[in-house]
Amino acid sequence: MDETVYKHDEKFRAMKPEAMLAFLLDTYPDRVVFSSSMGAEDQVITHMLAGLTKDPPIFTLDTGRLFYDTYDLIEKTNQRYKIKIKVMFPDKAQVEEMVNQRGVNLFYHSVENRKHCCRIRKIVPLQRALKGNQIWITGLRREQSPTRQDLHFAQWDAANQIIKVNPLLEWTAAQVWEYVNTHDIPYNPLHDQGYPSLGCQPCTRAIQPGEEIRAGRWWWEQPETKECGLHLSGKR
Ligand code: ADX
Ligand code: SF4
Repeated sequence: MDETVYKHDEKFRAMKPEAMLAFLLDTYPDRVVFSSSMGAEDQVITHMLAGLTKDPPIFTLDTGRLFYDTYDLIEKTNQRYKIKIKVMFPDKAQVEEMVNQRGVNLFYHSVENRKHCCRIRKIVPLQRALKGNQIWITGLRREQSPTRQDLHFAQWDAANQIIKVNPLLEWTAAQVWEYVNTHDIPYNPLHDQGYPSLGCQPCTRAIQPGEEIRAGRWWWEQPETKECGLHLSGKR
């Protein structure tokens, strides 16, 4: 497996994102999935995938706590591309137990509570969505965070036993927006209101000029705890 991942990574370095996506759809038929948070990067990838195949394998994790505008964008994107983004929900019994034991806004009370909520509402449904697939495409970019410096175009995700591919790894925010504007891609209006990085509504605030891209995510926590756990492991 390591050898394959290494080869893909080498190959992808010389390819444009669209070509990588075409290669993956071709090489792993019915074994590729793309996780979209509906953020600007992810909308770029959705646009590319929709141009390559009629029924692109896209899913989004609906935590139950997303912004209204994010739900709206799911609908708009489906209409624009005539696609059906698959919506993954957390397990009802797990959410009920969690909120009844720890409170509806448990995430503000401790890092442990916050991670527990991310686990129930994101990680468990993610694992379900990835099951049986060989390739997991994400919209991760190196520029987004100090914790994302060591990513590769293709890397082995040991936690999920899958090859993770980050086609926009080396794109800057300016490149993302140029592509969005050139192709008139629908995007979340909150991006124009100080939210470069969007997650759940109670855990995301707008940033001030000069702040880091992800400063508004879990803003009450220390920087080193600020990953939800979707993107933890990563060797090539
Ligand atoms: S997070 O780990 O802090 O939540 P971020 O919002 O930067 O991640 O998004 C990075 C990538 O993780 C996205 O491009 C997408 O592939 C995936 N992702 C994040 N949130 C979701 C979501 N709600 N549904 C599906 N994929 C997601
Ligand atoms: Fe829960 Fe906040 Fe994580 Fe969303 S981001 S799953 S609301 S802790």
